[in-house]
Amino acid sequence: MDTVPDILKVSILGRESIHCGFHLIPYIAHTVLTTLPASVYVLVTDTNVAQFYLSAFEKAFSAEISKLSSAKPRFLSRVIFPGETTKSREGKADIEDFLLLERCTRDTVILALGGGVIGDLVGFVAATFMRGVRFVQIPTTLLAMVDSSVGGKTAIDTPAGKNLIGAFWQPEYIFIDAAFLESLPEREFSNGMAEVVKTAAIWDETEFTSLESNAQLIYNAIRTPSTGNAGRHISTRSTSQSLLLSVIRGSIYVKSHIVTIDERETGLRNLVNFGHTIGHAIEAVLTPHMLHGECVSIGMIFEAEVSRAMGILKQVAVGRLVRCLRAYGLPVSLADQRVTRCPGARGLGVDRLLDIMRVDKKNSGPQKKVVILSSIGATYEQKATAVDDALIAKVLSEAVTVKVDLSTTSGIQHVKMATPGSKSISNRALVLAALAQGTCRLKNLLHSDDTQVMMAALQELKGASFAWEDGGETLVVTGGAGSLEVPTAGKEIYLGNAGTAARFLTTVCSLVSPSAAPDAGTATIITGNARMKQRPIGPLVDALRANGSEITYNESEGCLPLSIAPKGLQGGVIRLAASVSSQYVSSILLCAPYAREAVTLELVGGAVISQPYIDMTIAMMRTFGVLVTRDPGTDVYRIPQGTYVNPAQYAIESDASSATYPLAIAAITGTKCTLENIGSESLQGDARFAVDVLARMGCEVVQTANETTVTGPKRGELKAIGEVDMEPMTDAFLTACALAAVAQGGEGNTTRILGIANQRVKECNRIKAMIDQLAKFGVQTKELDDGLEVYGCPFNTLTRGASVHCYDDHRVAMAFSVLGTVVPDTIIEEKRCVEKTWPNWWDDLENKIGLKVGGIELPRAEGSNTATSGTPSPAASASVILIGMRGSGKSHIGKLASAALSRQFIDADIYFETKHNIGVREFVSVNGWPAFRAAETELLKEIIQKAGTGHVISMGGGIVETPQARDVLKDYAKTGPVVHVLRDIEEIVNYLGDETARPAYGEPITEVFKRREPWFIECANYDFVNHITVGDSEATNSEISRFFKHITGQPNLSENVAAGKRSYFVALTYPDVIPALRHMSDLTTGVDAVELRVDLLRAHNALGAIPSQAYVTAQLAALRRATSLPIIFTVRTISQGGAFPDNSERDAFELLALALRLGVEYIDVEISASERLITELAARKGFSQIIASWHDWSGKMKWNEDVVRSKYTLASRFGDIVKIVGKADTLQDNFVLHDFVAKANLQRGAKPIIAINMGVEGQMSRILNATLSPVTHPLLPSKAAPGQLSFAQIQKALNLLGQLPAKRYFLFGNPIAHSMSPTLHNTGFEVLGLPHTYELLETASVGEELKATLAAPDFGGASVTIPFKLDVIPLLDKLSPAAEAIGAVNTIIPVIEEGNRILYGDNTDWLGIRESIRSRAPSIGAPAAALVIGAGGTARAAIFALQSLGAQRIYLFNRTASKAQALVDAFPDAPVKLIETLDVWPAEGPAPTVIVSTVPASATTTDGTSPGAVLLPLALFDATANGVVVDMAYKPAETPLLTLAKSAAPKWARVMGVEVLLEQGYVQFETWTGRRCPKHVVSKSVLEKYFAAA
Ligand SMILES: NC(=O)c1ccc[n+]([C@@H]2O[C@H](COP(=O)([O-])OP(=O)(O)OC[C@H]3O[C@@H](n4cnc5c(N)ncnc54)[C@H](O)[C@@H]3O)[C@@H](O)[C@H]2O)c1
Repeated sequence: MDTVPDILKVSILGRESIHCGFHLIPYIAHTVLTTLPASVYVLVTDTNVAQFYLSAFEKAFSAEISKLSSAKPRFLSRVIFPGETTKSREGKADIEDFLLLERCTRDTVILALGGGVIGDLVGFVAATFMRGVRFVQIPTTLLAMVDSSVGGKTAIDTPAGKNLIGAFWQPEYIFIDAAFLESLPEREFSNGMAEVVKTAAIWDETEFTSLESNAQLIYNAIRTPSTGNAGRHISTRSTSQSLLLSVIRGSIYVKSHIVTIDERETGLRNLVNFGHTIGHAIEAVLTPHMLHGECVSIGMIFEAEVSRAMGILKQVAVGRLVRCLRAYGLPVSLADQRVTRCPGARGLGVDRLLDIMRVDKKNSGPQKKVVILSSIGATYEQKATAVDDALIAKVLSEAVTVKVDLSTTSGIQHVKMATPGSKSISNRALVLAALAQGTCRLKNLLHSDDTQVMMAALQELKGASFAWEDGGETLVVTGGAGSLEVPTAGKEIYLGNAGTAARFLTTVCSLVSPSAAPDAGTATIITGNARMKQRPIGPLVDALRANGSEITYNESEGCLPLSIAPKGLQGGVIRLAASVSSQYVSSILLCAPYAREAVTLELVGGAVISQPYIDMTIAMMRTFGVLVTRDPGTDVYRIPQGTYVNPAQYAIESDASSATYPLAIAAITGTKCTLENIGSESLQGDARFAVDVLARMGCEVVQTANETTVTGPKRGELKAIGEVDMEPMTDAFLTACALAAVAQGGEGNTTRILGIANQRVKECNRIKAMIDQLAKFGVQTKELDDGLEVYGCPFNTLTRGASVHCYDDHRVAMAFSVLGTVVPDTIIEEKRCVEKTWPNWWDDLENKIGLKVGGIELPRAEGSNTATSGTPSPAASASVILIGMRGSGKSHIGKLASAALSRQFIDADIYFETKHNIGVREFVSVNGWPAFRAAETELLKEIIQKAGTGHVISMGGGIVETPQARDVLKDYAKTGPVVHVLRDIEEIVNYLGDETARPAYGEPITEVFKRREPWFIECANYDFVNHITVGDSEATNSEISRFFKHITGQPNLSENVAAGKRSYFVALTYPDVIPALRHMSDLTTGVDAVELRVDLLRAHNALGAIPSQAYVTAQLAALRRATSLPIIFTVRTISQGGAFPDNSERDAFELLALALRLGVEYIDVEISASERLITELAARKGFSQIIASWHDWSGKMKWNEDVVRSKYTLASRFGDIVKIVGKADTLQDNFVLHDFVAKANLQRGAKPIIAINMGVEGQMSRILNATLSPVTHPLLPSKAAPGQLSFAQIQKALNLLGQLPAKRYFLFGNPIAHSMSPTLHNTGFEVLGLPHTYELLETASVGEELKATLAAPDFGGASVTIPFKLDVIPLLDKLSPAAEAIGAVNTIIPVIEEGNRILYGDNTDWLGIRESIRSRAPSIGAPAAALVIGAGGTARAAIFALQSLGAQRIYLFNRTASKAQALVDAFPDAPVKLIETLDVWPAEGPAPTVIVSTVPASATTTDGTSPGAVLLPLALFDATANGVVVDMAYKPAETPLLTLAKSAAPKWARVMGVEVLLEQGYVQFETWTGRRCPKHVVSKSVLEKYFAAA
């Protein structure tokens, strides 16, 4: 064979059967055919893999077969559905039937080409077919390569669980072709990396270290296509490819080694289950939304934490594991957004997880077993270790409590410990030790991203070597004495987002010299992630360039990546601007001794920032043998030439802020604590805490140069110290507060802590946090301008069991755990927030300080119904920023949006004026525009920082004028919504007129508009069209509410797109939809969505077939004014049956992107389009949903052929909804379609599917299709597709097919003969084509007849009216909250709950009242005052309605005051006030703007002619504003109240009782049928009948 590749072989069970390499397809065909002779070869794969590789296999086999001289064997292939659901009994039978049909015999060889699903399934088929045939594994996912293909385990799933039926069956060969990974989705690659990292973690530290530092390089191998079979031979293999292959081989090697020793899984093989005990439990809850490897990744961290809590594994190792898994894109905690967004995430309770773990195969009896790591690369035992449930529970729980035993007063306990190393000192020590000569043992190094990438980089530059001792506690650095070499060509040094590393290494890399190696590069390249590529490095590069270094920016000016030529550092005078970061200064200082000339470093450009850090660098350089001098009184430093000398050992000083906690624990509990590595010589401000605070509080403090010992006074005897200035140690003030809470003495037990104002803008507002949380203990405080006062209490009087919220701030958590050591049962709610600086704090409390810590599971908050709930994710809670031209309506829309979202509104102009104490206009005239723009940009940053979530923010029109502000906006738009408010420029000009409140432009507005418009578009990710002046205010309000809810995660999607329900849409096939809008209510009868066929839109006089963006925007805006239904945005191409040109894909996608910007709910995307464009669009879809569609117009597509499966798979990948349209020639074609849909729906996580056949023969498929069936309407200009039926036609057909049984609905009451309800509902049923009926059931009482009606199987629901609204309640199973509150039921709905039919009572009367008020007078909003007349059941509904509208006061008038008082008592939370007369309004309140009368018309009078009736005075309409008057009396149409309103308050809206009846009836109709009531037709026929009878 001419293409013999270079192969790495691994042996398993004594045979070298695993062959690894790149581009192996011809090799596989050759090897299989020549070494495994057979009469037939069957390759089984799935549709995803087939599209990439099947034809290459077919070709290779046919080429090899043609070379055979003997009888030619057959080569067959079988393509099946991808995904776990295929790994089933049915899936196995399907392949077996295929083999039998093809008359395969015992000498068959089966090849499994695919991921683990294919390998497991096909392996099992091979194990049992003809009692076992030979098979070959060709894994195509990383998981399959390193795990599932190796070991011979095969299996299928059953409904009872995964992998329950299977066999051990070893493949003849396993061919690992790493080139397959290039087509694998990255998420699947990461999924496999979890296994790779796991294997290294239990077995091989060297391999783990390589994984830690090479993530970027490994990804390069799969991201860069290896064209021309690159990599097949070692000579053409890239560094990345070699590394990838070696990683895969390493992992396989371990697995095959373990399998060889322990084939049938007894003890050793359990080790590969590291992370799986907990990971499997998580997977069981989250599947199929999270992948196996992702769950195992989280499981590994939890299990490592179990080992750490047992005192076996060091935090260093846990930290390395976390960072390594993260580097491969894997989640490491349950707080990861990928987890919290899963629908099942709420089920991740500790008890649930433990319960699932009970059935793990590894358990011995009730004891759970976990693989315990002892260090990276080694396990504690050669098998899984038994662990107590309590320990696992503690690790899993999110909150903790420090257990206190106040009865112990035993002698002084002495704790000696070191606290985590200081981050700044760790970073410096690492560079110094690496640049020095000799070996240094670094102790107490803080492991962080910075230290990790720094070590990797220094190794890459051959500048030093590193080794770990003491399980990672000590880092042994062998320094290179400043010799550094340029790395291999093409190898970049990747720094992630590690800022300190980037700054220090920039100068380090300038020290590099050329390398003698043949493949050495010409420059050192340092790069980072996207965030790093935005962080500034300019001043440092400028200084080095000026000194002669050759540094180029590879991408953007002023940021990484950098190319640094290996020229060495020149030295002499170096000038550096040091007002931005002291790290630039430290970077040069650290490297300066190695320059060719002694360095004089002059700091220029204003005040030097953070001098203490510069002093720290200089002090540490001295320890490593280089003495820096500073010219007195200047910022000039002189650094001599020299080589650092490594001290034998260097103990990194503890982080001084962390040190305050154990010392404070000694202080508060009356014990003794000695901290190593921190003492009087420390350069950190917080190191003074012991002397300046603890000693004054009564502790004995002994401090040596680098050790501190604190002995507390007897418990309860800490002294309050009056006042303390904590400016030099601000971070320690939280610890001081915790102690002050129990400190006594002085004036009022007061401790006044000052100098800490900056703590208001740390992780949270820490001053407020301490005040609020101390209050939970009963501790009083007072906030001061730059601090707070704490009034101490005896510790044993503090409230026990307080649950401390930590604001995700490590310092709050640790400070309150100090207080928790003397207040029993204190709960610290978010234990993980300590991870920022002291990840093993809770373990150290237990293992080093000797306290007991327990896990606590907090009750989970239930979802609330307020507008701000919905699907919370950070992006959903992100504040909305509005930008747009001045006068475009930002403030107005912003206020309405914030009301709709229940958020706070910020107007940047007002914010500006409050902040600067001067109006915008004056500011500009005093300081000029540039100063204003700069201040405005700062303001924008400040608002984002302080109000980045939960707000609606309106920015000034000119915010886009500077590039800086545009960058801030664009950056924000990556995760949060920036909305461009669009308004016609003519309208703006008219609106602004000669307004003077804001600074004048000084140029025509239209010019300003031209300049800014592109910037608005560039900065915003959404557009909102302001049509305030066009639409009526109800439509405008509802569109504002819809749009802003959409972009904040509460999209207006159809509830009927759900399993078990049916949904429909109507397609608007107009060139211009505007003339059709008046028919919209008819056109949309019954449907759930409206499709806008954008490809059919044509502006009058427009040329060409592509509608302009502006036209489409205007059409959509117009459509929104006419319907509140969700919109489907479709650009159908000609080849898919539409009118959009096929060769204009870009234009089509620009229109689709426009739809995203406009917040369209559903976007139809044709899967025949370019995959890249689809992927890009899908990545930006926000809260819109994608309908991924495929239409076959050829009529050749058959639903039972592979092509449909592959279209389906592709569409499922991109779409939230799949749409496949074929064509039927016979009725039979519809059955095949139906069968396909049924099977597809069986797959786990299956997407909703729209599947229909066109043509008259296909009508049946339209009837049976459940999701978004397209329907037509007689009013449409043309059917959107042949064979379309109307909504009503489909309902009738469904009824005939037995899919929609007729239901009977009733009105219960007495007397009801004249009720309008039958007309209302029966008209609705008829218009929608529903087979139901609505009848009157007039009975004397709630008796047997009524009970029998409720029990009948065809009972659909009932309305209930007087006098049964209360009496019917005992017959019902459950009441809605509204019915409970009102105390009456007017609607009965039979519902299925947990498999049982129950009767549910609701009350829609209040909704009728509320809707009547809202729709007639939307501007009223929350009325300042409202009046209810009467005190019966309807009055209750009225009060409930007004309360829900937010009425600030509700006057209640009734002739019998005692009855009214009962009503007031029934609504304790409502602002109801009894009034005794209607003639005057209470002095403190205004006259009402909403009046609801609930008494019969005959009981009211305007002239006193009816004795005993309520006299209605003119004073009712005293309010100056306009209002609404609702008379619930049903007859006559015009009651005395409405007549009076007509003359006394002609501008008020008047609502008749029958109108309220209609409104509540619409709601009933919709709850019963799941369909919107066709209001237009229904109201017409009800009102006609009502007035005819009147
Ligand atoms: N037998 C064992 O020892 C063992 C061990 C671990 C896991 N498993 C089993 O493995 C299965 C999971 O395997 P998996 O993660 O490989 O999932 P998978 O087989 O479902 O593959 C993942 C996805 O990637 C697609 N795909 C595969 N290769 C591709 C390629 N090269 N390019 C593009 N797409 C590609 C597949 O079609 C599929 O959609 C589970 O059923 C699990 O139980 C078995």
